[in-house]
Amino acid sequence: MAQVPAMLKAVMPSSFSSSQLYRESVDRLSQAGIANARQEAWWIIEEVLGVDRLRLHVYPEGSIDPERYHQAVALIERRASREPLQYVLGRQEFYGLDIVVQPGVLIPRPESELLVKQAIVLLRSHPQPVILDVGTGSGCLAISMAQTLKRAMVIASDQSVVALQIAKMNARRYGLHSRILWLAGDLLAPLLSRGLAGKVTAIIANLPYISHDEWDRLSPDVKDFEPCLALDGGPDGLDVYRRLLQEAPFLLAPEGVVLVEIGIGQADRLCQEITASKFLKVVNVQPDFQGIPRMVHLQRVGCL
Ligand SMILES: C[S@@+](CC[C@H](N)C(=O)[O-])C[C@H]1O[C@@H](n2cnc3c(N)ncnc32)[C@H](O)[C@@H]1O
Repeated sequence: MAQVPAMLKAVMPSSFSSSQLYRESVDRLSQAGIANARQEAWWIIEEVLGVDRLRLHVYPEGSIDPERYHQAVALIERRASREPLQYVLGRQEFYGLDIVVQPGVLIPRPESELLVKQAIVLLRSHPQPVILDVGTGSGCLAISMAQTLKRAMVIASDQSVVALQIAKMNARRYGLHSRILWLAGDLLAPLLSRGLAGKVTAIIANLPYISHDEWDRLSPDVKDFEPCLALDGGPDGLDVYRRLLQEAPFLLAPEGVVLVEIGIGQADRLCQEITASKFLKVVNVQPDFQGIPRMVHLQRVGCL
């Protein structure tokens, strides 16, 4: 039998009202140091009870089914342990899609929508682009592109088998599972071994880019719960991108493009390293909605 959470042991009432559940939830989340305790308590309660807060305001003393009450308390306890709200609720909105997330897969971030928007601008008039989302995670980028670019062949790859399972589940929910080719393995290796060299129009990558310095400053919600494989980019954060960009020209069609998401302060170093490459050039660097240089747009040049 599931363990009774601490908050329940303390209270254990025989009947439950929504206002009581809300008050207890806010207290528990505030004690745990959750800054947005009131808002998060509502989100969790609405999710479990399946009703919006207006209804709960109208009937604050309406009784709640004990099973639902216990479910809500269990989720509040998970959040109080600093597990990210998105894992507790099991989803995150991305580019207008409802993406299922679970521990084992990175929670999509709003700044990654920049990659999707730029890929769409570049590829929407292409007759049949081949697009690779390398390090697909939840599948948020691949699914957004497959949904918007109807003529595209989309390939999604990841080293994590758990991530690929969750990504496929997300694609199935939108009827896009069979529009995407799913490959497991390290960076571009699974594509090169399938004869796709020279055939890819665009590589879209949000690979791990957290440096070791930054790792120490990450909030516990991220560091203790999101997968290390999705975050750790080596000493300066660029280890995985260095390997990707060495292999990328062999996979790209002539004039094919690469769009990569990077972290704070990484743009100059990455661009300098590309300047030394014979096969890639920097087209531009674009800022996110906070003005932070976030996406580097590269293009294949020269003969291999
Ligand atoms: C930062 S997460 C991004 C996930 C998703 N693309 C997004 O934007 O939310 C990076 C992903 O890259 C995968 N990954 C890390 N190293 C990899 C490698 N060497 N080859 C393939 N995938 C890798 C991780 O498993 C993780 O799913």
